[in-house]
Amino acid sequence: MFKSILRPIIRQNNNNYYSSLLILRQLSSSSSSSSSSSGQSSPNRIDNVLVIGSGLMGSGIAQSCATSGKFQSITLYDVNDKQLGIAKKSIAKSIEKLYAKGKVDIESVDSAVNSITFSNRTDPKSTDNLLIVEAVPELLDVKQKIFANLYDQFKDNPTVIYATNTSSLAVKDIGLSVPVKDRYAGLHFFNPVPLMKLVEIVKLVDTSDQTVESLRQFVADIGKVSVQCRDTPGFIVNRLLIPYSSEAVKMMERGDASVEDIDTAMKLGAGYPMGPFELMDMTGIDTGKFVRDAWLARNDPSLNIASSELVDKMVADGRLGRKTGKGWYDYSK
Ligand SMILES: NC(=O)c1ccc[n+]([C@@H]2O[C@H](COP(=O)([O-])OP(=O)(O)OC[C@H]3O[C@@H](n4cnc5c(N)ncnc54)[C@H](O)[C@@H]3O)[C@@H](O)[C@H]2O)c1
Repeated sequence: MFKSILRPIIRQNNNNYYSSLLILRQLSSSSSSSSSSSGQSSPNRIDNVLVIGSGLMGSGIAQSCATSGKFQSITLYDVNDKQLGIAKKSIAKSIEKLYAKGKVDIESVDSAVNSITFSNRTDPKSTDNLLIVEAVPELLDVKQKIFANLYDQFKDNPTVIYATNTSSLAVKDIGLSVPVKDRYAGLHFFNPVPLMKLVEIVKLVDTSDQTVESLRQFVADIGKVSVQCRDTPGFIVNRLLIPYSSEAVKMMERGDASVEDIDTAMKLGAGYPMGPFELMDMTGIDTGKFVRDAWLARNDPSLNIASSELVDKMVADGRLGRKTGKGWYDYSK
């Protein structure tokens, strides 16, 4: 029912969006293609992408860019050479799987993988209309330092957009060292990136509409759907999901219902595709705890969550969900 109501609205918005972009492009074709720092000119299409951090998320983001075939250059940067090698292998394997299932429209697996430059330097082939997406671990000082260095490197280029993929830190805090606030935003992908369609665009007070439009176009170019939100804890999805998971754990800890029955209840009673415990196992018990702990540290009573000794013990014991074979359920059999 929701789908049938929503679809026409989404299609209409997309049409409006593309026609607005077309008009804006036509208007700008006679003038310079570079954006001004005032945020007044038309959105630039992203031509080049630099991803910082080649872990789970960074490699997924680079992979999605590569299979879209929409960019002049894609650079995947990491400080760790070994990790770059791992990323190359895992991207090749993942594209191969998607190709075999007919889920990506590419010339060949090799050409898609080779469209990514795996580098231990932040040196994209071209810096015109460059989008930088930072995806390094959730450590504020590390992220801040990265953006300070990147801004220093690209400060003379007014077409660079700076974005962070943070899940639990304030986007604003990460970007303190980026003076071009109109060209800085959050770009929150979901795991596994090649399969998950959603990207949250986090617009700060000073992020220009032009930057948001460029990011919307970028997300559409890689075959995903964007939503826009403000810089608040958890953005949209996690703000709803983390308290929901926390409440499910509390319910089970109180003995009100079992793990299995809570999952069954939410699937059959609320129409969710999986129950809260199945979802926690899929996203990683440690990932959930990481976000929860970051929220608890904020001491904000509006964030409706509680700590759980049981969850802490599961993480300490390495019961992290599907990825370790055991979480709320046992996947080892
Ligand atoms: N894992 C998820 O489910 C998920 C979902 C959405 C967003 N995120 C966010 O994405 C970001 C990355 O998460 P991840 O799960 O990919 O982490 P990860 O640990 O898998 O990868 C991080 C990568 O960053 C590299 N790195 C560390 N310091 C660096 C530096 N100074 N310069 C360049 N590279 C550096 C590491 O070598 C590693 O390869 C985090 O902010 C996280 O909150 C994660």
